[in-house]
Amino acid sequence: MTDMTVDEKNNSADKLAQFFRLLNVCVGQNSLVKLILGKYRGTEADLRTIEIKLVTIKGRDSMSFVYSYKTKDITKNFSTGDGIETIRGLLGKDFKSAHLFSLTEDVQLEFSKRDRCIMSSSRPTCSDVPGKSHNREKERMIDQKSAFLKALGITNEDHKVLHSMTRKWKQINVFLDIFERALLTSQISRTQSISVIDFGSGKGYLTFAVYDFLRNSQNMDPQVTGVELREDLLQFCNSTARKLGMEKLQFCQGDLKSYNPGKTQVMIALHACDTATDLAINMGIRSGAEIIMCAPCCHKELRPQIIVPEELKASLRFGVHLGQEAEMVTDSLRALLLEASGYETQVFEFISLEHTSKNKMILAVKRGDAPDKKAEALSQIKAIKDFYGIRGITLEELLKG
Ligand SMILES: C[S@@+](CC[C@H](N)C(=O)[O-])C[C@H]1O[C@@H](n2cnc3c(N)ncnc32)[C@H](O)[C@@H]1O
Repeated sequence: MTDMTVDEKNNSADKLAQFFRLLNVCVGQNSLVKLILGKYRGTEADLRTIEIKLVTIKGRDSMSFVYSYKTKDITKNFSTGDGIETIRGLLGKDFKSAHLFSLTEDVQLEFSKRDRCIMSSSRPTCSDVPGKSHNREKERMIDQKSAFLKALGITNEDHKVLHSMTRKWKQINVFLDIFERALLTSQISRTQSISVIDFGSGKGYLTFAVYDFLRNSQNMDPQVTGVELREDLLQFCNSTARKLGMEKLQFCQGDLKSYNPGKTQVMIALHACDTATDLAINMGIRSGAEIIMCAPCCHKELRPQIIVPEELKASLRFGVHLGQEAEMVTDSLRALLLEASGYETQVFEFISLEHTSKNKMILAVKRGDAPDKKAEALSQIKAIKDFYGIRGITLEELLKG
């Protein structure tokens, strides 16, 4: 622990000891739902988070550690004793935050830049310990009894998800699971207020969900703004937020082409059509967002630009393949432009195809101390453009301006 007064050191050591007492109790009483270690500052390339759960292996109580890297997950299993010692060796050193979910409370532990330990607790998000079998079935990220779910027509009077809304409910939970991991990896502090912009917020499903999640599951102080063109949707969302007392959730009329978000920490744009995704990413970068989450759709810009390379002619003579290639190239360039702008970027399927065809996510989290990849990313962008004979995408032009 660096540059701390003796009192601060003692206080931090007390908090850490308190955290491990709680962890021991949760493990002993089988009330641990999961523990996520985040804000990785160690030396292993591309390691992001570790998610720890109780499992039973060959009849023995054990702990499963899922190490999430940029492009893969690795699972290691420990006895509960060894598991707790492993966490002790990691927390405060390689990992600067922990989020513990138990049946009695959710606890967040975070180390400041000076290694001061801050701990806070909130009411439990989960009411059930997941089955101890070896799968990663996701639990719900928000309370199914949350009033906004009923107000938006996702649940009924009995807090049951309407049959017609099961896809949306699943999408919300998957989205929040990804968001939570990004939050843990980012530099965003839990103790300060957090501003979020959702571009093209539509009926507000994800906007309300993010607000509720940050406020009630993460115990943070969110200021969330949905930006939308359609007046009827704005009126509905604003009046619903007011009715539910969600004071710092607001919906503004604005066009992605001209909206100025000011400084913001999280920028979300799901299913923004064609180059609207580029406008949103550009705005996110310019507003200093720590996290940018996009689910692009309708990729129209590159297809007419592509000059099919000789090697791919046999494959891309099929229109459907050319469309898929154009989409892949567009999103690769977006990811690389984000990397060149100082973000760690992932592109992945965020909900299975059976739920929606718009299923790709570009997730970018601003790099902390990780090495700059600008030169490498720019040379990769050039190589792709040269290969396909393309001029480039809107985002590239916007970032030059
Ligand atoms: C496909 S919906 C997505 C809604 C929501 N983001 C989701 O994923 O559930 C796209 C929304 O973006 C809005 N929109 C389209 N162009 C826009 C623009 N230029 N500025 C702001 N909103 C826009 C539309 O009115 C629509 O509600």
